This record gives sequence, structure tokens and C-alpha cells, in this order.
Amino acid sequence: MPNVVIVGSQWGDEGKGKIVDFLSRKADIVARYQGGHNAGHTVVINDDKYILHLIPSGILYKNKICVIGNGVVVDPLSLIKEINGLRERGIKLGKNLFLSKNAHLIMPYHVAIDKERERLRGKKMIGTTGRGIGPAYVDKMARTGIRVADLLQPLVFKEKLKANLFDINFLLKNLYKVPCFNVEDIFSEYMAYAEKLSEYIADTDILINKMISKNKNVLLEGAQGTLLDIDHGTYPYVTSSSPVAGGACTGLGIGPTKITNVLGIVKAYTTRVGSGPFPTEITGSLGNKLREKGGEYGATTGRPRRCGWLDMVILRHSARINGFTGIAITKLDILDDIDVIKICTSYTYKGKLYKEFPKEINIFEECKPVYQEIKGWNSSTIGIRDFNMLPRAAKAYIKKIEKLLGVEVQLISTGQRRDQLIQIKKQF
Ligand code: GDP
Ligand code: IMO
Ligand code: MG
Repeated sequence: MPNVVIVGSQWGDEGKGKIVDFLSRKADIVARYQGGHNAGHTVVINDDKYILHLIPSGILYKNKICVIGNGVVVDPLSLIKEINGLRERGIKLGKNLFLSKNAHLIMPYHVAIDKERERLRGKKMIGTTGRGIGPAYVDKMARTGIRVADLLQPLVFKEKLKANLFDINFLLKNLYKVPCFNVEDIFSEYMAYAEKLSEYIADTDILINKMISKNKNVLLEGAQGTLLDIDHGTYPYVTSSSPVAGGACTGLGIGPTKITNVLGIVKAYTTRVGSGPFPTEITGSLGNKLREKGGEYGATTGRPRRCGWLDMVILRHSARINGFTGIAITKLDILDDIDVIKICTSYTYKGKLYKEFPKEINIFEECKPVYQEIKGWNSSTIGIRDFNMLPRAAKAYIKKIEKLLGVEVQLISTGQRRDQLIQIKKQF
């Protein structure tokens, strides 16, 4: 019966994949609602590591229906490679995977435009994943996008492609001064993808609403995080979709009245990949220590993640925008040997105190964090599965977060593996 949205509460990579995998055991259907293969969701089962990019993290369990919703932008080759990669590792894929007809396709020219726009931004680059995500969403909003359903209608596909290349080749040639694309080349490439993907293409809005009306357990998997949201993030240093809980409704075709729980995923500290403001960033040796211990390297691009202290200002914003009914705290174990742990509770800028994050990006960039300090616990929490077994100072850290946020902590992750987790409240 519960319909649970999983949302990143920071700048992505909070450990959503691990939590989605854990909750999938009791779910009937797991659905991605936005983003694309810019996402990298890691699941570790015993000694096996899987990184999911487009396919929901529920796929590793047998007999779960997995949906790639209309709000996702799909690079067909990336999806085919992911399907093949999972099959090679013995994961069954077939009647359990559904791809929305209304999802938009990432085209080769989106990747070219993404790269050229970043190049021209120079020092002001966003640090995108270079996967064509932004330009694909631009075309969607400009109503020139090509959708998954078009793969099944070659003539319609070709007409749209021709019309798009008319503009885009002009841009590539005259502004960016890079090679143009050829209609026939892309057409034959994408028709070959269509053959491989046709068995998965479906009216996923109908499917998911049927599951909801049958009182099934529904898990909705957000990618990225609230501070990367196109509306509610640190614009323009964001992605081009809506990772927030509201995005689950538009990105799948579910009425807001059907969502019962919103679980915010909170890393016990903060990370960010790419450019943009990050008031609690730790530079120097402590930052490096967190990066190495936490394995903070991008699951998609391998880029080092910037690391910093927990920031309650952005978390309060996240809780408000998403309406969290609970949070899961991940990577607690990474703080095991830190003597003094800091929590940012507000910012200052030019002598003024900011309890909420300023929407003016230039002010946010200059904000200085105001910290509370907490004693570290200096002992291992790895693999602990009972809250009472945590060191006293670790319990105090969790309780402090709960109090400062005003949202119940329902899960605590204490390691990479599926079973390294404390469940305080059940979602299903
Ligand atoms: P996602 O994008 O939100 O799914 O997160 P990523 O998979 O990009 O990054 C999270 C990383 O932290 C992955 O390598 C996970 O295996 C790992 N991870 C998740 N939870 C924990 C935890 O509680 N402890 C430790 N040590 N690692 C964790
Ligand atoms: P998951 O789902 C962390 C960041 C990029 C860049 C910005 C825009 O694994 O948490 P894009 O290619 O989307 O146009 O890049 O967003 N970004 C992520 N950062 N985790 C992600 O996904 C991200 N997906 C995009 O680094 O700063
Ligand atoms: Mg990730």
C-alpha cells in the first residue's frame, strides 16, 4: 500500500542506490522518475558491486517490476549496455523492465552541445557529466524533443530528426565550429536501438497507476539531489530535471494524493561533484581523508567529489521542499575516526546571519558557515544493525540531526553492503 519516494537531500550521491536496494525487498514496483545516465547508484551485495545508471536499483531482486518513467531522459545505447552488463552478471531482464513511451531520447547532438556549452562557459562551467542531459531537457521543454515512442514509428522519427538537425547543424557549424550530424547515420543507428528496446516500451503511467490501485508497494527512486534540482537547487549549478519529491508525480504520471511517504537520504557529511557553492566544503588533509575513506569518487564519471561537513541549512530547505516524512542517514561509519565533528546550523554574509540559504547565488557563494561542534566517537560503527549498539557519541550525532531537522530518522546505514543497516521504522 505505501507509495514511497526516495529523494537525495543534498547534492547527490547520498547513497540512494543502497537504500532503494534495501527497501526493494518488500516493494512490488520500483520506478525512476527523472534524470538520466548522469546518475550512478551503487549497490553492494556481499562482494559484488553494481552501479546502476538508468535502470532502477530494484532490478537486483527477482520478480520486481522496474520502470523508467516519462520524466527520465534516455540514452538508448547506454540503456542497452546496462541491460547487457546486468544480463552478463546473471540478472534476469525481460518482462520485469518497462520504458515509458513518453520518455525523451538523448541524441548524439545533445552530447555535442553539452560539451561545447561547457567549453564556452570556461571558468563558469557547471561541471556537467557531459552526457547530453541538459540539452535533451532543453529540447523537451522547447517541444522539439524526440520521444521513446517515436522509435517505434520510423517515419515520424525521421521527420523530427530532420527538422532538428536543420537548426542544430547550423549551430554546430557556425557557432561551435565542430562537425555536423547526418540524418541517415543517426536514423540507422537509432532504428537499430529501437529493435533492441522495443520489447520494453510501454504506457508506464497506466501500469504504475494499476499497481497503486491494487495496493501494491511502490518505490519511487529519485536521482541526483534536492540541491541539484532545476527549481530548488543552487541554480545554475544544477541538473536539468526535478529530483524533488514533486518530480515523482510529473515524472511518472502519479497524482500527488497517492504519495504516502517521502524518505530523504542524508549522507552523514556532505559531498558535491562539479562546480557551484558549497559553504561547508573542507579543503586540505581532512577533506582528502573523508574522500579516501568514503570512496568519494563519482560512480559515473570517476571525478573526485568535494567533501564537507553536514549542512543543516540545506537540509532544512530539503525537508521543506520535499515534505520528508522520515530520513535515512548514510555513511555514518565514515566519521568513525574523526575527533571533532562539525554541523553547520546557519551562515553569515557581510555580518548578517542567514538561517535559510540565500537564493542569490552570488551571496550563497560568499556565505560562511556557523558551526556547532560534536565530539567524535572514535570507534567502529561498521555493520552495526541495532541502534542501541552504536557508540554514545554516534547516537548523540543522530539525535542532534533529528532534533535540528525536526524529521524522524528511520534508517541508518553503517556500511556499503546491503545488510549493513539499522532499521528504526519500516517503510513497507
Ligand atoms: P547514490 O548516487 O545516491 O546512489 O550514491 P552513490 O552510489 O553515487 O555513492 C554512495 C557511495 O557510498 C557508494 O559507493 C555506496 O556503496 C557507498 N555507501 C552507501 N551507504 C554507505 C554506508 O553506510 N557506508 C559506507 N562506507 N559506504 C556507503
Ligand atoms: P546521483 O543520482 C552527483 C551533477 C554534475 C553537475 C550537475 C549537472 O548518482 O546522485 P548534468 O550532467 O546532470 O547536466 O550535470 O549535476 N550531477 C550529479 N552529482 N550525483 C549525481 O547523480 C549527479 N548527476 C548530475 O556533477 O555538477
Ligand atoms: Mg551517485
